[in-house]
Amino acid sequence: MSRIAYVNGQYVRHADAAVHVEDRGYQFADGVYEVCEVWRGKIVDMPRHLDRLNRSLNELQIDWPMARSAVEFVLRQVIRRNRVRDGLVYIQVTRGVAKRDHFFPSEDVAPSIVVTAKSTSPAAAKAQAETGIAVVSYPENRWPRVDIKTVALLPNVLAKQHAKENGGKEAWYLDADGNVTEGGSTNAWIVTKDGVLVTRPAESGILRGITRAVVLDLVLKEGLTFEERPFSLDEAFEAKEAFVTAASTLVMPVTRVDGRIIGNGHPGSVATRLRELFHTATDLQTA
Ligand code: PDD
Repeated sequence: MSRIAYVNGQYVRHADAAVHVEDRGYQFADGVYEVCEVWRGKIVDMPRHLDRLNRSLNELQIDWPMARSAVEFVLRQVIRRNRVRDGLVYIQVTRGVAKRDHFFPSEDVAPSIVVTAKSTSPAAAKAQAETGIAVVSYPENRWPRVDIKTVALLPNVLAKQHAKENGGKEAWYLDADGNVTEGGSTNAWIVTKDGVLVTRPAESGILRGITRAVVLDLVLKEGLTFEERPFSLDEAFEAKEAFVTAASTLVMPVTRVDGRIIGNGHPGSVATRLRELFHTATDLQTA
């Protein structure tokens, strides 16, 4: 079965899906995106993702390419047409196609929209969660507006590639104070020796992860102690557990940071439990 993508009003073969060379997403990274998990045929937390898309669009003064309900319809269609039961659905909106010029184009330029979906392997994700991943620290190299989920991901690409070349699956950004901000495509967490969950506050230096927010709901429900505050790399080295969260990884245990073993070197009990419980705290809608 060939994959199908949605591009500006049409469902096309994925292999043929293309945008114009003067799409501002291509020329200026002038666009935003969202990634939602698809779990057992359900779209996970679509309202929260579309709320964040709305916020990103507003911050950049890009219009919705079509009504929000139409976007929801397309997300479902693309998932169905690709027969995705477990996987990811991706939506990207850019400021549209216009002659290359830094200034915003005139009002009559319509935003571009692309939606794709792909299947992922729950078994492979489970196996990874049972081993845990290694992360590698990297100096913060991004603009201050990391709260906007833009497609301008070159700094993240460089950080993650550095991590890969040094034996890691994820990069952990370090700010000027030596505190961890977040991962290259995930939010970062530790569990201290005293069993306190720590994650950086949403207000500065991080993307306000939807998975992070769901996990915080779970943490409250489970009565776990937590603190929203910055934590340093040294604190992470001393932690009992560490993990990352994102729609693409859910709760993923971290067992090594910069080559140093975290806790006993195995996925921790808190991360493992939060991963198990994760979908009980999500909004699940039929795809
Ligand atoms: N990344 N921080 C960054 C920099 C991210 O790119 C992401 C998501 C997150 C986690 O956000 P959420 O829980 O809403 O997925 C945090 C997506 C999955 C990606 O770029 O593929």
